[in-house]
Amino acid sequence: MIDLSNKTALVTGGSRGIGRDIAISLAQAGCNVAVSGRDLDTLKSTTDEIENLGRKALAIRCDVAKENDVAEMFRNFLEVFPVMDILVNNAGITKDGLIVRMKEADWDDVIDTNLKSTFLCCKEAARPMMKARCGKIINITSVVGLIGNAGQANYTASKAGMIGLTKTLAREFASRSINVNAVAPGFIATAMTEKLPDTERLIANIPMARFGKPSDIANAVLFLASPLSDYITGQVLTVDGGLVM
Ligand SMILES: NC(=O)c1ccc[n+]([C@@H]2O[C@H](COP(=O)([O-])OP(=O)(O)OC[C@H]3O[C@@H](n4cnc5c(N)ncnc54)[C@H](O)[C@@H]3O)[C@@H](O)[C@H]2O)c1
Repeated sequence: MIDLSNKTALVTGGSRGIGRDIAISLAQAGCNVAVSGRDLDTLKSTTDEIENLGRKALAIRCDVAKENDVAEMFRNFLEVFPVMDILVNNAGITKDGLIVRMKEADWDDVIDTNLKSTFLCCKEAARPMMKARCGKIINITSVVGLIGNAGQANYTASKAGMIGLTKTLAREFASRSINVNAVAPGFIATAMTEKLPDTERLIANIPMARFGKPSDIANAVLFLASPLSDYITGQVLTVDGGLVM
């Protein structure tokens, strides 16, 4: 049983899908949890569920692609919670298309939302975590950041970039007992994968023959957020039913 009693966490993109499950799993393990998103109203069902579990919850409005929003999110968090024990960089988007048709704006949006946001949040988390001499940073990347995917130049570049960032920060922060790891989901049933065409063909390539659930990712995050992973840093844990091995 993982016990995160009295720990504090920030999960970006916590309104739905994987982020919502991560936030609730952390709360179930005893953690007080802040969730952020672009629209406060969409965070309410997550914070209600965290409070129903008897934990402290905080909803923070933040577009993670914007430096000022991220700085304000950390200020809000640290006004309410004394320390940040766990940061989960989960917010992400896709804007798919073959590179010959990909617009510069679609490249920029995806890189800013997925990769620049992770840089901004890790930079803000560094100071309080270094002061506390402990912390767990978990970046939600993707298996396509490891193997590429036709039609996702922007997304795969952002997710591969997150992996490089994870390894560099693991090296920079290790002496302060801050672990930095990534979770690389395969196909997980959320709004992001809802509109994918030809899911039967995709499932045929997964040894476990199904899409994963958001809770499959939340379980991996829980492990990386806990003392069970204290000697693990700079790693990418794929959670994909065997798709990439
Ligand atoms: N679903 C999958 O199969 C899959 C696979 C690999 C990786 N991932 C990654 O997992 C993470 C969660 O994805 P999901 O499937 O739950 O998708 P989702 O679309 O259901 O949720 C994404 C969340 O990010 C938030 N978000 C998007 N842009 C934001 C911004 N600029 N500022 C703040 N919040 C923002 C959304 O509001 C939402 O809460 C993403 O990083 C995604 O790339 C998902």
